[in-house]
Amino acid sequence: MLEIFVMTHFYPLNVSQVDNLTTQSVAISFEIPADLQSNFAFKAGQYITIKHTIHGKEVRRAYSISSAPVVSGPQNSVTVGIKEVAGGAFSPYANRYIQKGDILEVMPPQGRFLYEPTTAAVHHLGVAAGSGITPILSIAKSVLASGPEHSFTLIYGNKSPQDVMFSNEIEALQTAYPTQFKVQWVYSQAKEDQALFGRIDTAAINYVLKNTDTAPFDGAYLCGPEGMIKTATETLEKAGLSKDHIHYELFTVATESTSDSGEAASGGALAVGKIAVEVTVDGETASLEMDAKTILLDAIIKADIDAPYSCQGGVCSSCICKVTKGSATMIKNQILTDSEIADGLVLSCQAMVTSTEIAVDFDDV
Ligand SMILES: Cc1cc2nc3c(=O)[nH]c(=O)nc-3n(C[C@H](O)[C@H](O)[C@H](O)COP(=O)(O)OP(=O)(O)OC[C@H]3O[C@@H](n4cnc5c(N)ncnc54)[C@H](O)[C@@H]3O)c2cc1C
Ligand code: FES
Repeated sequence: MLEIFVMTHFYPLNVSQVDNLTTQSVAISFEIPADLQSNFAFKAGQYITIKHTIHGKEVRRAYSISSAPVVSGPQNSVTVGIKEVAGGAFSPYANRYIQKGDILEVMPPQGRFLYEPTTAAVHHLGVAAGSGITPILSIAKSVLASGPEHSFTLIYGNKSPQDVMFSNEIEALQTAYPTQFKVQWVYSQAKEDQALFGRIDTAAINYVLKNTDTAPFDGAYLCGPEGMIKTATETLEKAGLSKDHIHYELFTVATESTSDSGEAASGGALAVGKIAVEVTVDGETASLEMDAKTILLDAIIKADIDAPYSCQGGVCSSCICKVTKGSATMIKNQILTDSEIADGLVLSCQAMVTSTEIAVDFDDV
């Protein structure tokens, strides 16, 4: 059974601070009122979902929390870092128009990419590219705050120093933890002293592995493009770090999914015609009929059922539900393990139904 508590509700939160990080990225902090602090408690690595209507269309976007969870005392704010994606619906809006005092609809933190603090001394590696720094920064802060015997090494790739998000916070950590926190900068379009030139590749990771004077890494946390994650994982595995200790978060996937191909990537013959669907969310069950060629989550959203979702691309995990009757297969899945799939869990944004009727439960996950 997963330890994920599904919270489908959005709450209006006050934007308490907006800081320009680079010309193309911004940090946005939200004030958490006292009555919502338990809902917004989080673990380093998790993300929030922001819902907003732009040009009459509702968009939901996931943003990893860059601030560290408060260990004791109230969690009265969370901060996210948003990098502008050219042509995007929400990130250009966030960078140009969101101001202190705005109210935005925010879903409480979710996500399985998280750091569980430990009292045992640890040395962790973070590998981030571009906006992938956001969850890694939160994890780094959590590790370092755990005590003087905990250390963190960061490999951070950008085009140039001007593109580095949260550079002030990273420098502040270097000052606060001079022996525990090391940073290896990697720039693909600028040659700088003390920095590697190029992308984060096998050579860059091996360079850091060879030059690490502290203990070997206990775990690695990766966030960036799929190619970087694949290379980093392979390199770290070759260097002896087991797969169980390598964790990653994707913000986007390279390949587009299709919903009408009649075939699903993970196998299974799709149903045809109309399908009777029962959906349980927040203790309430609703019925609908959907076309077999439709993605399950799309049909649920169309029926105006308030199921949780964020990325709609199979990368964030907020749309997980359990199939309690019938069957479904996923177009793509980079999140659920084989045993979770065997337990009936599916990513509803990737689910194609393979039975004439199906019942799914968003609460029982
Ligand atoms: C779990 C999770 C955590 C995330 N955390 C962060 C974060 O901390 N900071 C952050 O800036 N973003 C983060 N993202 C990405 C974010 O949710 C949005 O996808 C991103 O801001 C683009 O949204 P948009 O509405 O501007 O663009 P859209 O209108 O969604 O997309 C426009 C185009 O850009 C492509 N695209 C979308 N995202 C990216 C990307 N990251 N790089 C390149 N191309 C892209 C799309 O495929 C599409 O073609 C996260 C995503 C996930 C799933
Ligand atoms: S909505 Fe993000 S994985 Fe389905």
